[in-house]
Amino acid sequence: MSETPRLLRALGGETLDRPPIWFMRQAGRSLPEYRELRTRATDFIAFCHNPEMAAEATLQPMRRFPMDAAIVFADILLIPRALGQEVWFEAGEGPRLGELPDITRMAGEVEASTGRLSAIGETLARVRAELEPERALIGFAGGPWTVATYMIEGRGSNREAARTFAYEHPEKLDALLRVLVDSTARYLIMQARSGAQALKIFESWAEGLAEDVFERIVIGPHRAIIEQVRAAGVTAPFIGFPRGAGALVETYARAVPVEGVALDTQASAELGRRLQAGGKTIQGALDNLLLRAGGPALDARVETLLAQWSGGPYIFNLGHGVMPDTPIAHIARVVERVTGKPAKAVAAE
Ligand code: CP3
Repeated sequence: MSETPRLLRALGGETLDRPPIWFMRQAGRSLPEYRELRTRATDFIAFCHNPEMAAEATLQPMRRFPMDAAIVFADILLIPRALGQEVWFEAGEGPRLGELPDITRMAGEVEASTGRLSAIGETLARVRAELEPERALIGFAGGPWTVATYMIEGRGSNREAARTFAYEHPEKLDALLRVLVDSTARYLIMQARSGAQALKIFESWAEGLAEDVFERIVIGPHRAIIEQVRAAGVTAPFIGFPRGAGALVETYARAVPVEGVALDTQASAELGRRLQAGGKTIQGALDNLLLRAGGPALDARVETLLAQWSGGPYIFNLGHGVMPDTPIAHIARVVERVTGKPAKAVAAE
């Protein structure tokens, strides 16, 4: 059997006997062993910057489930912090950010920001050394627009303030996006050199954008990141996740040289097949709420997804991350259906 990880074969455009599988947020609060590990860190940011703990969190779901890929345990908000903006997490409420620093000042921090993220490189190296060769390791960063929404609004929100900012202060937003493109490209280059074999851009808030705005603040920055990463000689495939882009997903896929396009819950069978026919590998789009709900509806949807997309390059995944209160048995059942391999019990149970 080929040792090239199934995930990388799929991203290389191969149609496989079964799709590789991994889940967004497969590490994290749905696992009791994660909740136990989490109590040992003072705060979430410190956890992400501790290679020993972050590597352990990355590997936890790999021990339990026969996933074909691990995703490094980190967060999209580590970049604003590395650029000098304060970031913290309020228990039960999510991320909070301090005032947006002066953009020219942040531009001067781009080079130093990569060094401030070196712990994530160490995490990747540790995980790659422990993971079986047939299982791939994914590195990631947030899409510049999504990260900018948090930097502008100071928290997760409906993004109205950030979208208004895009119209009222276009030069300022473009300058901020340039800083994020440059720091993100350097960060992804560092991740690839540290062991990441595929790179994912999480543009989680790509919804509700007018076409011209989408082209300017999503497509342009994604193209620029990939151009910089390729110019550095990094060949790892990219997965772009323009979550919520709806009808603009195909515009995205045509314009951005990603190997894979991650689809959200709404993606139609037809859309996925058109993307495959256009040369893209697709990933997604199982509803994370259905994964949590379980039962015959989940089984039926898994069969539908496998039937509609397995004829082309396809990576089985969710349309968004695993919800913290998802029963482990539901995850185990889906992974076993796709891989034919059972999950294992771990000591924490
Ligand atoms: O397993 C994986 O997918 C890898 C790890 C990962 C995390 N965050 C860990 C995390 C990844 C890929 C992310 C990406 C991320 N972070 C996104 C994009 C993906 C998406 O879900 O749309 C976004 C928008 C963020 C920002 C962020 N980080 C939010 C909104 C929150 C709060 C969520 C909450 O429910 O508290 C986080 C914190 C976070 N990131 C947690 C984890 C496991 C929970 C924090 C904890 O354990 O205390």
